[in-house]
Amino acid sequence: MNQLMTASYHIETIGCQMNVYDSERMADHIESMGYQRANAVDAADLVIMNTCAIREKAEQKVFSYLGRLAPLKRRHPELIIAVGGCVAQQEGERILSRMPHVDLVFGTHAIRNLAQHIETIRHKRRRIVDVAMDGGAILEAPNAASAALERPSRFVTIMQGCDNYCTYCVVPHVRGPEASRHPDDILEEIRTLAHSGVREVTLLGQNVNSYGLKEGMCSFAELLRRVDQVDGLQRIRFTTSHPKDLSDELIRCFSDLGKLCGHIHLPVQSGSDRTLKRMNRKYTRKDYLNIINRLRSTRPDIAVTSDFIVGFPGETEADFQDTLSLVERVQLDGMFAFKYSDRPSAPASRFPEKISEPVKKQRLQVLLDTQELITRKKHAALVGTRQEILVEGFSKATVADNPTEPRTTPPWTGRTPQNKIVHFSDGNGNGPALAISVGKLVWITIERAFSHSLWGRPVERELDMPSAKGDHSDAS
Ligand code: 5AD
Ligand code: SF4
Repeated sequence: MNQLMTASYHIETIGCQMNVYDSERMADHIESMGYQRANAVDAADLVIMNTCAIREKAEQKVFSYLGRLAPLKRRHPELIIAVGGCVAQQEGERILSRMPHVDLVFGTHAIRNLAQHIETIRHKRRRIVDVAMDGGAILEAPNAASAALERPSRFVTIMQGCDNYCTYCVVPHVRGPEASRHPDDILEEIRTLAHSGVREVTLLGQNVNSYGLKEGMCSFAELLRRVDQVDGLQRIRFTTSHPKDLSDELIRCFSDLGKLCGHIHLPVQSGSDRTLKRMNRKYTRKDYLNIINRLRSTRPDIAVTSDFIVGFPGETEADFQDTLSLVERVQLDGMFAFKYSDRPSAPASRFPEKISEPVKKQRLQVLLDTQELITRKKHAALVGTRQEILVEGFSKATVADNPTEPRTTPPWTGRTPQNKIVHFSDGNGNGPALAISVGKLVWITIERAFSHSLWGRPVERELDMPSAKGDHSDAS
């Protein structure tokens, strides 16, 4: 054990916010064994790779990273290499045969067994594969007390798995069936986070709208109402929503709940009914447009972002034009767009009429260019307005991230309730610098708009504790 007191670990995370949250749970487990965070991967005694299988490219990244660890293991044979997450779940045993330097493969439900497996490997130098799916992934309460004050915004997983079986998607196969955490556990975690200085939580699930339905527990809207009551917490976000399950009760939360931020990520995937049907999405283009109208009439300032897949098998030029016209019509605040990627366990990998790589590439570019103009227009309209920002830290924006931005980077960064990134400096140019610190809500006047962010400066007078809706009088 003494030796462990100086042992260190490195976790490499690929993929979605769910993986970021899972990596934090992994860190909790191994820190409780005495491991400390290493400064660099080549200084670590334990390297864990938390993997993503959503697209082929993510999976390739996993194997190339693991390949690069082989020389490290040759130099340092005591090094333990563990692979977790979705690729581990999907590939299991095959990772051990392909990568002889890997010691442990643990699936999406095996995080709670991590410490025990590492202990066994340290003492017996045995290789282990644990990919059983027994629902254990979120049944344990995470160590919320480890919340660092420097991180005022945190993820909280409220459910695992997915029952939707979209035909392109690997998630139901690697994360298992939908299962929700008990609301009391979730609230306890959030209260602990808020108590330790966290100001914003993002509730996570593959489809948070169906939270609790299967278990007959409270609905997602009821859960939000309870989270809204947590003292000290100032902002609530959630992701991801499936359009087919977005209830009126949930839409009402956007007008009723003072802490719920005016942003929804609502993946549509395609604007073509024919494609949506073949994707098994269970809603039409018209349904999606209706939801957006209802959201905007409930919360006029709501920002809507979405996910798109281009080049789904059989997608014609006319289908793609339907996607473009939906984008023009909805005027989204932002999007993530992906070229369709075959996932062997998903049914669409066996659909005929695959779209060629150059066509996928061209459609992706057209879609991104269309959205870029819309985003720029929306950002430009914010110049001169006052926005409430949760200060998240020092700005790391560089010219490489956004070549259109100026070279001098203001020191602070944060987000508006609409999830727009704002960089700002603490002096207003006319008077003394304001006391800005991480975790504070501040009002910023937007002065410049770029395609990925906004730049501004604090309003002359600090307003105390504005609410997430930006309505100062709502502060409690
Ligand atoms: N190919 C391309 N994109 C995919 N996504 C999910 N599966 C695939 C796939 N096989 C995208 C969807 C989803 C996002 C997380 O990843 O747009 O919303
Ligand atoms: Fe995948 Fe569809 Fe489930 Fe989202 S809802 S995780 S796209 S199967």
